[in-house]
Amino acid sequence: MTTTSPLRTLSASTSPFSGGGPQLTSPFSVGGLHLPNRLVMAPMTRFRSPGGVPTAEVAAYYRRRAAGGIGLIVTEGTLVGHPSASHETTVPRMTAGPAEEGWRQVTAAVHAAGGRIAAQLWHLGSERRPIDGIPAWTPSTMSVADIDTIVAAFAESARVAVRAGFDAVEIHAAHGYLLDEFLWPVTNRRTDTYGTARATFPAEVVRAVRAAIPASTPLIVRFSQFKERDYDARIAASPHELESLLAPLAAAGADVLHASQRRFWEPAFPGSQLNLAGWSRKLTGLPSITVGSVGLTADLPELPRLLAGLSDGEFDLVAAGRILLANPTWGRLLTTNRHTEIRNYRKSDEDVYF
Ligand SMILES: Cc1cc2nc3c(=O)[nH]c(=O)nc-3n(C[C@H](O)[C@H](O)[C@H](O)COP(=O)(O)O)c2cc1C
Repeated sequence: MTTTSPLRTLSASTSPFSGGGPQLTSPFSVGGLHLPNRLVMAPMTRFRSPGGVPTAEVAAYYRRRAAGGIGLIVTEGTLVGHPSASHETTVPRMTAGPAEEGWRQVTAAVHAAGGRIAAQLWHLGSERRPIDGIPAWTPSTMSVADIDTIVAAFAESARVAVRAGFDAVEIHAAHGYLLDEFLWPVTNRRTDTYGTARATFPAEVVRAVRAAIPASTPLIVRFSQFKERDYDARIAASPHELESLLAPLAAAGADVLHASQRRFWEPAFPGSQLNLAGWSRKLTGLPSITVGSVGLTADLPELPRLLAGLSDGEFDLVAAGRILLANPTWGRLLTTNRHTEIRNYRKSDEDVYF
């Protein structure tokens, strides 16, 4: 049996990357950020920053993806400056001093390649291993003073990111880490306002980060239904419940929502084809980024669905992660009809760094 991918049936003269509607190669602006295309590099932790300080190797890694046709890079999760954020020693930090200096080299390298880069700010919450006598912080263990401390830590890291040259800031509120543990009813059992209105703490982080960075610097919030340890978990059982979580984030100053799914083409709720990015855009009016298994196989069978989502205004930007580990120039190959040169992603691509 032969299978024909939708992409391979399209010749260069009927390129899916030109023609009507906002396609992958059309520019996009939000605040003072002007992107040449719709492609985003998804944040991916790589454990290459000894002592939390990104090296020249890290700068070269991101520069390569910017030069390879990605409009906006989102860094791997970077740790906010509080000991409860993580036990990891090779995950980069977003703190003043050597880490800030390292990030300045990274942003300069990306800008020199014509790219734009956002810093993802991260607190691991209960995923932090309780070593060094520092316990994991969770919704159940945090006092209001602890919450205030972490809000301030996010704001300070956002300030550092802007000083280091970042074009945007992304708050990591997805995948079961601290902010998501507040959004998810299973882990947020608080009876105060941080529990009865589960977006309260994430919204306080958004408000504080918004106030800490220039008005023209976009603030992205990444969220998900699923958890890294529970793919079936959901923060919202209905669009109405999702709205109750996203509206406070929008009101607090989020500019873009980055809706993390494992497969972008899956509907977020029964009764509608809209994916999670589609719903977040519909419910808040904010631009959204979709993500999840884009381009994972080089023949891109899901391409028509992706282009339709862009054209229909379901989402505005498209993030890809793993395929960019295998192909630093994926963006350019995809948008110049050199897709036959794209190499399929393999799990072992996560073990190499270039
Ligand atoms: C090695 C690896 C590390 C990741 N690290 C992060 C991270 O630090 N922050 C985050 O929000 N998501 C992280 N993710 C999830 C990706 O951003 C992305 O959502 C996911 O890989 C799905 O996109 P893909 O199918 O295009 O790879 C990571 C994924 C991978 C494969």
